[in-house]
Amino acid sequence: MKQISLTGIKPTGTPHLGNYLGAIRPALKLTKNYEPVYFIADYHALTTVHDGQTMRENIYKVAATWLACGLNPEEGLFYKQSDIPEIFEMNWALSCFTPKGFMNRAHAYKAAVDKNVAEGENPDSNINMGLYCYPCLMDVDILMFDANVVPVGKDQKQHVEFARDMAIRFNKHCGEQIFTVPEPLIPETVEVIPGLDGRKMSKSYDNIINIFLPTKQLKKKIGKIVTNSQGIDEPKDPNTCNVFRLYKLFATEAQSEALAARYRAGGMGWGYAKSELLNILEEQLGPAREKYYDLLDHTEKIDKILAYGAEKARKRSREKMDKVRSVLGYSK
Ligand code: TRP
Repeated sequence: MKQISLTGIKPTGTPHLGNYLGAIRPALKLTKNYEPVYFIADYHALTTVHDGQTMRENIYKVAATWLACGLNPEEGLFYKQSDIPEIFEMNWALSCFTPKGFMNRAHAYKAAVDKNVAEGENPDSNINMGLYCYPCLMDVDILMFDANVVPVGKDQKQHVEFARDMAIRFNKHCGEQIFTVPEPLIPETVEVIPGLDGRKMSKSYDNIINIFLPTKQLKKKIGKIVTNSQGIDEPKDPNTCNVFRLYKLFATEAQSEALAARYRAGGMGWGYAKSELLNILEEQLGPAREKYYDLLDHTEKIDKILAYGAEKARKRSREKMDKVRSVLGYSK
């Protein structure tokens, strides 16, 4: 039996290359060795997205991105979190076993408090209970489906460690192995994915490139990537160049070497480097882009796939929830 790998993506905006390279592409690669569980963490997004229409669109965008990039709904599980009522039932049960101190120590919550304090605000200003309890809901996501590994970036590692801790505590409390104890799977090469300005690609820095921009807009975006002001003739250093850093994440070793050589030789302008980046993105994401827009034009196809996924996932979540209910004395 293959081990289970679980990946959740929060629908808070239009997926960008940072999401693709950091989460989607690595998660899809794992399907070779693991049974995949993919889901759209839409109730997690509710801590920040309060507009219904925006939420609906974001959910479709994330689902269409997964599917366009090659997720096979027949393999493993693919569902949206809000379709699984057991998640919320379990959330209450586990929250009654979660030390409040865990939530106090969670990075995202602490960062929000620190920001308020730094700005002279009340420490709790604009912090809703959803944000505070976010890690508990995430524990449930992970433990519900017996994930063995959770591929995450460094920023999410603490969350998986909480889930680990909760599984161990709960199992010990019950005297039986109710939950599988998960492990974070941190990619070895934790490359920072550079945004337009060279800082980590992030919506909050306003430096993102969306995955499925139409060619013309993609070209325009790439034009905005910050380079230095060296002239065409000068030899250039590929490794300090934001265009090359992105190119390398898509190219084969040989392609990267070839472009790096052109940088070093001189006689290559930024326009050329940018056109090479455009070409490789078009080549690798162009076909998926068509599928993406086709799915967004036919959201009923997405609805059907998610309904199928929810039904499949709920067989497992109901079984797990029933076990927990029985242990806690709510049923025989
Ligand atoms: N918190 C994750 C993020 O912001 C999304 C997420 C929710 C998740 N539940 C999860 C990721 C469970 C992995 C496992 O990216």
